[in-house]
Amino acid sequence: MSAPKRGLRKGLVNYGDTEFSLFLRRAFIKGAGFTDDALDRPIVGITNTGSGFNPCHGNAPQLIEAVKRGVMLAGGLPVEFPTISLHESFARPTSMFLRNLMSMDTEEMIRAQPMDAVVLIGGCDKTVPAQLMAAASANIPAIELITGSMLTGSHQGTRVGACTDCRRYWGQFRAEEIDANEIDAVNNELVASVGTCSVMGTASTMACIAEALGMTVSGGASPPAVTADRMRIAELTGSTAVTMIAQDLTPEKILTPKALENALRVLLAIGGSTNGLVHLAAIAGRRGIRIDLERLDQFARETPVLVNLKPSGAHYMEDFHHAGGMHALLRELRPLLHMDTLTVSGITLEEQLHAAPPPFTQSVIRSRTDPIYPEGGLAVLFGNLAPQGAIIKQSAAHPDLMEHEGRAVVFENLEDMANRIDRDDLDVTAQDVLVLKNIGPKGAPGMPEAGYIPIPKKLARQGVKDMVRISDGRMSGTAGGTIVLHVTPESAVGGPLALVRNGDRIRLSVANRSIALLVSDTEFAARAAAFTPRPPAAPRGYQKLFLDTVLQADAGADFNFLQAESMPHTIPSARKT
Ligand code: FES
Repeated sequence: MSAPKRGLRKGLVNYGDTEFSLFLRRAFIKGAGFTDDALDRPIVGITNTGSGFNPCHGNAPQLIEAVKRGVMLAGGLPVEFPTISLHESFARPTSMFLRNLMSMDTEEMIRAQPMDAVVLIGGCDKTVPAQLMAAASANIPAIELITGSMLTGSHQGTRVGACTDCRRYWGQFRAEEIDANEIDAVNNELVASVGTCSVMGTASTMACIAEALGMTVSGGASPPAVTADRMRIAELTGSTAVTMIAQDLTPEKILTPKALENALRVLLAIGGSTNGLVHLAAIAGRRGIRIDLERLDQFARETPVLVNLKPSGAHYMEDFHHAGGMHALLRELRPLLHMDTLTVSGITLEEQLHAAPPPFTQSVIRSRTDPIYPEGGLAVLFGNLAPQGAIIKQSAAHPDLMEHEGRAVVFENLEDMANRIDRDDLDVTAQDVLVLKNIGPKGAPGMPEAGYIPIPKKLARQGVKDMVRISDGRMSGTAGGTIVLHVTPESAVGGPLALVRNGDRIRLSVANRSIALLVSDTEFAARAAAFTPRPPAAPRGYQKLFLDTVLQADAGADFNFLQAESMPHTIPSARKT
């Protein structure tokens, strides 16, 4: 058997003459100043996701330099290349609409260009999931490098950071508790440096998940963006990528069902973003692994929230780092984890923890006997409103609303909500249940983070801080409240959320894991029979591809043709009785 093609010999362009193809490739890259010695090295591609539209990746130039240093120290040749970059506030209509496009771009550029391994630089919410999905499909040695969290700022002596505090202060401004001058002053402090949001939002969640999966170097999740720790992690990532080539350490050896189960445990224990579940379903789907939501809920009941970070707790990501980061968390979770999973470092999670700095006393990452919440951060709900499931971030919900029955106040879509929610004549009380339809994967489209329905202004002015809210959309990982999300199937394709009418009674019971529309079966069936869904369609382009092929939230909102051809594995594994 001939040896696999490495370096510049890999993936030659098809001119019908392979030696000429190589001759031409060498000629062109020499035009960039490379010598023959450099060109005989194993090649590590580095995704440059720096962008003027992405402050969360503002340290990308420094990271790339450090990765290159690491690659060269280990005898490899680093070659950076651009891919799509996505920032939450700069990607319209929602970054989620473009996550799959970024994953396709990344996967195909990895396949198309001659690299033996790839370093994926990601940070802002959708970038790490897109890159892990791409890596799972491209299946060459791949390693994730997180950009790192931003620093925190200060407003009138109170520490602030994006974006739990963004929402808290904006809520105060809407309630007319603070004025325009003060909200401007807060705006100056919320994002104190480049880097990702400083709480346990989606970016921090995916960073922790990437490390739990074994896709970063040990300790790679938590160093803030502007620290020397982060640059040393970048250098180590570069050298590790070179060693992965010799070991042929591909994602199929790392992204196993056991590793995905570990990631689910971590998602629950960190009080992680609800988006983390959608992204994990998409990553797992690329490797033929399905997440069973009923089993996940059982998993959640036995996994306490241990990390005391906003929005579920009190601290920020840099505190998590100083408290020992993932090493401290994984040590505490050890009895619940598969410790024999392989990491990018070529050793198991157990071996990695053994080699990590020793534990010390701290108060940010709790013990399992003293959790900040006794169950996992997420609970899975079922019922006639969500036959394929919905989720609630119970660790960030109001305890008084977790068992609640109320009158539905329905908004048909985003535009309807924007037009009416702040009107003084809106018929709404604090005991009502706000329902927003048509913000699912196809509905909006892209399942925007509009599930954090704002408290109607007339109630906010009365001091109302939380209400039960239900939608088929998502919510930012930095947000909190008694908010039911990802109702599946979505209303735009005929899911039962579409049948809810103003004045209906809805009952939420987190204890019973149920979400129910309280109408008779006869009435429910009559409404369903009379309803014809009209999913949005597009005549051409990426939007057409998206609307024609996007899957529901329980399948990660991936495109159907990007998933693995079959799904032989289901996680979490079934309990033995
Ligand atoms: Fe990029 Fe929050 S906006 S991580």
